[in-house]
Amino acid sequence: MGELIAVLSGKGGTGKTSVCAGIATALASEGRRILAIDCDIGLRNLDISLGMSDSGALSFLDVSEGGYELSQVSAHPLYPNLHFLTAPMNCPAERIDLDAFGAMVNAARSQFDYIFLDAPAGVDAGFRLAAAFADRCILVTLPGPGAIRDAARAGELLELMGKSNVRLIVNRVSKKMVSAMELTIDDVMDLSGLPLLGVIPEDGNVTLAAAFSQPLLHYSRRCRACRACRRIAKRIQGIPEPITFR
Ligand SMILES: Nc1ncnc2c1ncn2[C@@H]1O[C@H](COP(=O)(O)OP(=O)(O)OP(=O)(O)O)[C@@H](O)[C@H]1O
Ligand SMILES: [Mg+2]
Repeated sequence: MGELIAVLSGKGGTGKTSVCAGIATALASEGRRILAIDCDIGLRNLDISLGMSDSGALSFLDVSEGGYELSQVSAHPLYPNLHFLTAPMNCPAERIDLDAFGAMVNAARSQFDYIFLDAPAGVDAGFRLAAAFADRCILVTLPGPGAIRDAARAGELLELMGKSNVRLIVNRVSKKMVSAMELTIDDVMDLSGLPLLGVIPEDGNVTLAAAFSQPLLHYSRRCRACRACRRIAKRIQGIPEPITFR
C-alpha cells in the first residue's frame, strides 16, 4: 500500500514546493511509483518545480469530482513512473469535497508507492486538505529560531488533527549561518519539538532549475540540494543516512 506524505509549513516561502519536487523526483529516479499532487489552489507551481509546466495536467478536482480516472493522470517526460495532478485554479479549498478527495488519494495507494501533497502557505483549509489523509507530514522550515518556532506551532496543529508522524526539514541552510548562530541538530529538535528528517543547503541551483522549469535533479545532478533530497528520499524509505549540517 502506498504512503501519503504531506509537505507543509504554515509559513509561506520556506521551500515546500521545491523540496516536495526534489524528493518526489529523487524517489522516482530510484524506480518508486510516485503521484505528486499540488494542493496550492490558485497559486499552484509544483508543475514548474517538477519540470511539467507544459504537461497540460489534470487537476486533482478533475479526478476527485470530475469523472477522470487516476489512470489518465499525466506522466513525467523524464521519469515515467512519476505522475502529477495540479491544483484547480478557481475552487476555494473550503469547497473541496473532502470525502471525494479522500476516496481519490486512498485509491491512489494501490497504484503508487508514495503520494506527495504539496500544501499552500498558511494553516487554514488548504493546510487541512493536504494533511487530512496523510500518513506522515513533513514540515519545511527555514533555519532561524523564529521560523523553527513557527514550524513548532504548525506541528501542534497537526497533532491536534491526530497526526503523530511529523518530521522537520530545515531548508536553505548555509554554513555561515549555522556557525554564526552556533546552531546544532539538537538545538533544532529542542526548538521545534520535532524529529529531523533532513537538512537542505542554500543552493542557487534550486532557483535556477525553477526559472528554467527543469526538475532540480535533471538540471544539476551534482548540486548540494540534490544530494540532500536524495538522502531524504533514502530516509523516507527507511534506509539510514546520517543527518549533518554539511
Ligand atoms: N535550498 C534552497 N536554496 C536556494 N533557494 C531555495 C531553496 N529552496 C527554495 N528556494 C527558493 O525559495 C523560494 C520559495 O521556494 P518554494 O516556492 O519552493 O517555497 P514554498 O514554501 O512552496 O512557497 P509557498 O508558501 O508560496 O508555496 C523559491 O524562489 C525557491 O527557488
Ligand atoms: Mg509552494
